[in-house]
Amino acid sequence: MSGIVGYLGTKDAVSVLFEGLKTLEYHGYDSVGVAFLNDAALRVYKKADKIAVLEDELNSIEYHSQIGIGHIRLATHGSPVDVNAHPHSDCTGKFAVVHNGIIENSHELRSQLERKGHHFVSDTDSEVLAHLVEDAYEGDLLAALRKALEPVRGSYALVLISEYQPDCLVAARKNNPIIVGLGEGEYFLASDLPALLPFTRDVYFIDEGEFVEITPNNVQVIDSDGNPVAKEVFHVDWDVSVAERGGYPHFMLKEIHEQPQILRNTLGSRIKPSGDDIILNDIKLTPDEIRSFSKIVITACGTSYHAGLVGKHLLEKWARIPVEVELASEFRYRDPLLDPSTLVIVISQSGETSDTLAALKEAREKGCRILAITNVVDSTITRESDEVIYTWAGQEISIASTKAYTAQLLVMYLLALLFAKERGTMTQDEIAVITSALQQVPGWIEEILEQEESLREIAGHYHNCNDFFYLGRGLDYAVAMEGALKLKETSYVHAEAYAAGELKHGPLALITEGVPVVALATQEDLLEKLVSNVRGVKTRGGAVVGVSLGQSDLVDETCDHVFRLPKAPSFVGPLLSVVALQLFAYYMSCARGCDVDMPRNLTKSVTVE
Ligand code: M6R
Repeated sequence: MSGIVGYLGTKDAVSVLFEGLKTLEYHGYDSVGVAFLNDAALRVYKKADKIAVLEDELNSIEYHSQIGIGHIRLATHGSPVDVNAHPHSDCTGKFAVVHNGIIENSHELRSQLERKGHHFVSDTDSEVLAHLVEDAYEGDLLAALRKALEPVRGSYALVLISEYQPDCLVAARKNNPIIVGLGEGEYFLASDLPALLPFTRDVYFIDEGEFVEITPNNVQVIDSDGNPVAKEVFHVDWDVSVAERGGYPHFMLKEIHEQPQILRNTLGSRIKPSGDDIILNDIKLTPDEIRSFSKIVITACGTSYHAGLVGKHLLEKWARIPVEVELASEFRYRDPLLDPSTLVIVISQSGETSDTLAALKEAREKGCRILAITNVVDSTITRESDEVIYTWAGQEISIASTKAYTAQLLVMYLLALLFAKERGTMTQDEIAVITSALQQVPGWIEEILEQEESLREIAGHYHNCNDFFYLGRGLDYAVAMEGALKLKETSYVHAEAYAAGELKHGPLALITEGVPVVALATQEDLLEKLVSNVRGVKTRGGAVVGVSLGQSDLVDETCDHVFRLPKAPSFVGPLLSVVALQLFAYYMSCARGCDVDMPRNLTKSVTVE
């Protein structure tokens, strides 16, 4: 997640921009940039470097400025190099824009603009915005922005300035936050509250689809139809650390709640609007290469390994290719049977995990093609791989991985569909049925988040228990492993996942009166088998929390507590049930008084063996 700051007032705008941007450094970023009007001439300075480095550079330059925009970027489209940093300008250099979000149809818009003679300098999706405004401008910046955004699909929080109107800042919001700060004779704009708190505590929260125009004596907000909106001033009394967490008590909860937006961004730009094709522009594998692999090996650690287990099910079912999933820490010492016809997929949120990197090197030595799925642009694993798909989840601060996992899962779904298409194992109509369900996932997750209170209550009921079992079959077993890991690391509770059918082969001996068992029941075709395993637990006195897709009499009758996910097709079960398990682990951690975001003995990036 990148960060935006804007300023119009009587102070030195550039100092305000840097001060605001520094409060957003916790987001993580790789580039920084500012644009301001120096005596009505637009100047843009940007760098793939730290804020302090750009600040030093500007300290050695003469300028005078009372209006400007600033941005820190965590790379998604385009690597972290100077030219890809924001602000972006048009061909004339008269407009500059900073943008958070993803422009889904940027390729199409860019081609159209290039055909009209526009010249692009960066690899970013955001640059199209500056060129669209250039085309639309007829003397009114706000009108130009509204017109420019008409053909744009995607998400944005953006702020625009222009030499043509040197006393005006305009902004727009769709699925990405933007906030106006109200000072004495000065105004601020920011993507996040912490950037406003050094200057003011009175703000307007801009709502979906609204536009803002700031001039020296006025803030005008209009809705998407152009009607004025009367905003109420909100007085912020949060301290900075609460503001950094977006008002949530912990980063883990904030990151759980970010999942719908992250998945929406990914789905919008990686599924064709027709729904029958997948766009993974990041990888250069040709259809012939995709058809030529004899098997896939997925290797990763921890939560990323669990995403690989779901990926195996999907790739084997949809693309009919054999897939092995292996813990990277084992793979590296096993002299695995690999040859150049094997595609090796390494999954790593951080892109720096030492075991995963070593497994990658082992595979490379054996001549395999390497595809990395990571969240961090230019991390070591991305540099060592032949192909990279980014998960675009934004920086994950809590040690317990949540949003990075669901983003990894979504990439596995899209990759499996791409392979199915190229290998001819699914028709475009069959793919469209799946993508249409995937597009509903963000909304379904929002429904789960609305019911989080019931998960808090269930956690309250079990928070004194020190041993948990997680059961599932098929895809549910893979998610059970992730649920158990989440509970272990956040709540210091012993939790083990079992394929439900394995229970009778040993673990059932551990089920006695009151032992809690979380049973995942999202796989329709395996439901009866799962319920019969749950009955075995109940007979021994176990206490069962069932997680079902919609209402299920079978689950309701057998379990002590039931958490109902929205009614959805079984194949999206992992993307939904895991959110319930994340919230359960979160509330268990809170109830047990653990350090939610920084569990003992763990680090975010495991760079030692
Ligand atoms: O950065 P990576 O995805 O390579 O990290 C792998 C594991 O260390 C990581 O997923 C770990 O299991 C998390 N703490 C789980 O929440």
